[in-house]
Order: sequence, then C-alpha cells, then structure tokens
Amino acid sequence: MAKTTQFASKIGLIAATVGSAVGLGNVWRFPAETQANGGAAFLIIYIACVFLLGVPVMVAEFAIGRSGRSDAVGSFINLGASRPWWAVGGVAILASYMILCFYMVVAGWTLEYLIASVSGFLYDGAGAMAHTDSAFFAGKMSTLIGSRYYPLIATYVVILINAAVLIVGVQKGIERMSNIMMPLLFVILLVLCGVSLTLPGASEGLEFFLRPDFSRVTASTFLNALGQAFFSLSLGMGILITYASYFPRTTHLTRTAVTVSMLDLLVALLMGFIIFPAVTTFSLEGESLSGSTLVFVTLPEVFARMPATQVWSVMFFLLLFVAALTSTISIAEVSVAFVADRMDVPRRVSTIVVLLPLFGFSTVCALSQLPSLGLTIGGATVFDFLDDVATNMLLPLVAMFTCLYVGWFAPPGLLRREVTNRGSARARAHGLILFILRYVAPLLTGIILVSRFL
Ligand code: PFF
Repeated sequence: MAKTTQFASKIGLIAATVGSAVGLGNVWRFPAETQANGGAAFLIIYIACVFLLGVPVMVAEFAIGRSGRSDAVGSFINLGASRPWWAVGGVAILASYMILCFYMVVAGWTLEYLIASVSGFLYDGAGAMAHTDSAFFAGKMSTLIGSRYYPLIATYVVILINAAVLIVGVQKGIERMSNIMMPLLFVILLVLCGVSLTLPGASEGLEFFLRPDFSRVTASTFLNALGQAFFSLSLGMGILITYASYFPRTTHLTRTAVTVSMLDLLVALLMGFIIFPAVTTFSLEGESLSGSTLVFVTLPEVFARMPATQVWSVMFFLLLFVAALTSTISIAEVSVAFVADRMDVPRRVSTIVVLLPLFGFSTVCALSQLPSLGLTIGGATVFDFLDDVATNMLLPLVAMFTCLYVGWFAPPGLLRREVTNRGSARARAHGLILFILRYVAPLLTGIILVSRFL
C-alpha cells in the first residue's frame, strides 16, 4: 500500500537523515580507522569513497523509497520488481534488525556514561590519584559495562525511548526529535572543537591526524575506507529507502544525498579535531584510539586532566548519546515501517511488535560481553557475530543488489525520473550516477564481499 506520511519540512527531513547517518561510526570508528590507515592519506581516500560511491548508492536508495512509497520490501514490490528483488529489501531489514540488537546495547553504554558524568561517579576517586591513569578508568568501565545489571537497565531505557518516539510517528516523533537533537549535537561538537583546538598540544595533534602517510596505504586501506563510508552513511540497511518514502515529491534527491554526506563527513572531521589534539596534549596517543577504549577510557582520562572535568564529560557523552539514539531510531524505523505496511497494522502495534523482542535479543548481546557466560557463536561473542555478519556481509550484499536493480532492472527511466523530480529539475550528474550504479559500485561492493572470505 502506498503511504501518505511525509516529513513536514526540508530541514526536518535533512535533520532526520543526518541523525541516522551520524552515529558511533563517526565518533569511534572514524578516528580509529584514520589513525590506523595513515592519517590524511586515509582521509583523502575516504572522501573519494563518500562522494564517488556513497552519494550514488544513497541516491539509488532514495529513488527506490521515494518512488515505491513504502517500506524496504514494499517499495520494491510497488515498483513492480519482476524477479524476487524485494528479497533484497528483506535482507536489508534482517541486517538492520541484527544491527539494532547490539546498537541498542552500545547506545545504553553511552547513556550509562552520560549519567555517570552527571552524577560524578565516573570521576569519583580520580582526584585521590597522582595521575588519573588508564587503569582507573578501565576499572570504571568494568563497573559500568562489565556489570550484569547496569548495561541491561540502560539498554531497556534506550528501547523505551525508541518506543516513545516511534509510536508518535514520523512527523511528530522522528522529525520533531531530530529537529531538536541535531542542532544540539552540532553546538556541542563546535564547543568541544573550540576547546580542543586551543589546548597546548593542538597543532601536534592536528599533525598526527592530518599528516598523510602514504606508506601505510595498501589495498585494505581502500576496503576499509569503503566499508567505513557504507557504515557511516547507513547504506544497505533499508534506512534510506524507508526515510525516502517520507520525502515529498519536490525533494531534490541528489542535492539531499550530497548535503547528508557532507554533514556526516563534517561530523567525522570535527570528531578528529576534538580527539587528536586532546589526546596528544595529554600524551595519550600511545593508547588505543579504537572503539570502546577511546571513548570510555582515553577520553575520560583527558577530561580528568582538564579544568571543569565534568562539564566536558557531560557534553561529550550527551553528544555520543544523541548520535547513538537518533541512529537507533532510524534503524528501528526500518522494521516498524515494514510491519506496519506489510501487515497493515497501526504504528502503535508495529512499534511494539518490533521493539518487544529486543528486550530479549539485546539482553543476549549485552550479556555476551561477559566472557564468563560463554554466549558465543563460532568463537565470537553474539555481539561481535551479529556485527560481523550484518556489517561486513549483509550491508555490502544489499548495497550491491540495490545498485544492480536501479542500474539495470528497475522500470526504465526510474533514476532519471526521480533525480529530476519528474522532469521539473535538471538531471545533474544523472549519467555519472547511472554509470557508477551499473559498473563501479557492484564491482567494488563485490570486492568487499569477496575480501571478507579471503
Ligand atoms: N550510520 C550510523 C553510524 O555511523 O553509526 C548508523 C549505522 C549504520 C550503524 C550502519 C551501523 C551500521 F551498520
């Protein structure tokens, strides 16, 4: 069934889509990837991936969603997809749900750290030490994340917040929340950036971040940059198909894709400007800048060494929580829209159908982080297993078939009709986008997939 729900404003539409894209990918994946892959050398390759591949794939997803006007499966069906192309949408929904199971847990961790910053628990006892070292914050991390109870409670709270926003609907829930959260996120980013760039070690940190080291560029640098672009732009998960089904007919798809990608890139860059100067100023560059250690150990160490510790800590973890929350909501919306449209049930019901099982699935993911419980699949924790299968296999797979569909199999002229808003706008870059969707993107996503098995 074709939908009538739409985003109410252009700003709201951009805020919601950027809210989906900006997440933990920008905050803790991007700095780590940049550091590990040769600084600015990686950055240059990453920017090329975002614009040459990310934007066209985003336009392809937008085109399917806006013309199909339904969830990730229904949009393919509404386009009269001949072969079982709609299964591509089905795999996207599966992948997004798998990601949701562990992303809720991570969002819960960010909430725990926000609360621990506000209450002061995170720095309790830090003053008594001559040097607030990493062991101190590693201890706090094992209390907050390694506990059996706190992460579960925090995860459940995040699920409930998701439910509250999703039940209210696209305009009044997702859009209104994004209109508040996204400006807040940018204000916090800019304040933290200002503080970090005026630290004594700022120039050294920037050099560490931006000095291109081409000797570290290998074939895997390209794959990592490509994988990071897909992850960060939320491609191949049905999110952009679902959100585009709420775009008005007048939305300029290419321009929207470029704006969203640029803002997502900007957030990643600003994160680099915040993290590297802070880390070098306090000589912490030897510590891990990847994943959870960066945000939960190294950065609290930085804050502890600065005046007004709690202010920066609260701001940073609020930023992280907002980024994670808006992403969980967009990921959950994929399934909520699917259940509502396919089963023709009210949103209220579909939100419950989607979120209720997560109390169980996310519990398993959270508990699998505790080695003593042995919750593993094939040697990996349930958490890591879902992450690996969904992000490294299913996302590129979906992205590849989406490109093939729009490039070759969709109703003739679909892409041109959508990028020109049925002929009322100029078909800028249409030829280039089509070329990329037909040849370049399937080849590169194919390489990502194959490389996973090498
Ligand atoms: N794009 C968001 C992020 O960078 O965190 C959300 C997201 C997309 C998470 C895709 C996971 C994923 F695989």
